Amino acid sequence: MWIRVSCPGVVKFFGEHAVVYGYHAIAVAIDSRVEIYARPLDSEEIVVNSESLGVNVKFRSVDSVDWNVVWSRKLMYIFKAIELAMNYVNSRKGIEIHVKSDLPVSAGLGTSAAVSVATISAYLSCHNYDLNLNEVSKLGYRTELEVQGTASRMDTTVTTYGGAILIKEDSWRRIEIPEIPVIIGYVERKYSTKDMVLKVKKLRDNYPEIIEHVFRSIDAIVLKALECMRNDNSECIIHLMNMNQKLLEVLGICSEDMSQLLDTLRKLGVGCKVTGAGGNGCFIIYTSNVEIEKRVVEFLKEKNIKIIRTRTSNLGLQIEKFLK
Ligand code: MEV
Repeated sequence: MWIRVSCPGVVKFFGEHAVVYGYHAIAVAIDSRVEIYARPLDSEEIVVNSESLGVNVKFRSVDSVDWNVVWSRKLMYIFKAIELAMNYVNSRKGIEIHVKSDLPVSAGLGTSAAVSVATISAYLSCHNYDLNLNEVSKLGYRTELEVQGTASRMDTTVTTYGGAILIKEDSWRRIEIPEIPVIIGYVERKYSTKDMVLKVKKLRDNYPEIIEHVFRSIDAIVLKALECMRNDNSECIIHLMNMNQKLLEVLGICSEDMSQLLDTLRKLGVGCKVTGAGGNGCFIIYTSNVEIEKRVVEFLKEKNIKIIRTRTSNLGLQIEKFLK
């Protein structure tokens, strides 16, 4: 028996980085998803295959995993998720996993959270353990925490439950907003989430009184954005996205090239900002004007920048069992 598990990518509309220090953020699931196909094995073997990452890795059991290989193949979220799921149910039963994703990996779209939550759900589900969304989301968070050292619950919560959420530390709530069209641009990323979170931490350690003010301003933007998103006030959303972007630049997570690109896009009348940890990777563009949207897409195509046109989505974790 095979199962298919899928989780949505996550766009951070407002508040990334500040959320790590206990301030509010708004993140939204998108209708582009990560898929995992899994089947239980009779042995203790762990087999992981990903066409998009070009890898096929097999270990005799979780105790013989070579973590250097796992890190070098960018499979640490999957293996850490399997290990945590196994410990959670106190089992060593094996699993075969195939990962499929059209989303750029480690680029700011919450793919590490989606992969972590999907892997944990796949393990529990294909070995017939009960699936409690709250527990799955928590284990997904622990996976990110163990791999990255620091993380908020934002991405793992959104990818588990879908929709838009307002989050602050351990508490979050779903917010009802109209569906929003989003253009995602992607520039090759040079740094990991861990690098960028660490960079902001160092800045905060060096200039605590200044950086706390920046976080507080981001927090104020998030709370105002909540009102604007609920009322579908696109002019206000655009303003606030652009303000949030400038504060992310103050936090030093945006390369010179990325800042210039976003400055140019902003002149077309859109809201645009980095989404996620930064250090290049993905940025989001929002406009409710179809003509402007066309101009933006043409501009990005001319610049040879990869784009994903997507929408916000209410669909979270999905599991389907089937025979293959
Ligand atoms: C990463 O998608 C967003 C950050 O705020 C880190 C986190 O919340 O875990 C940079």
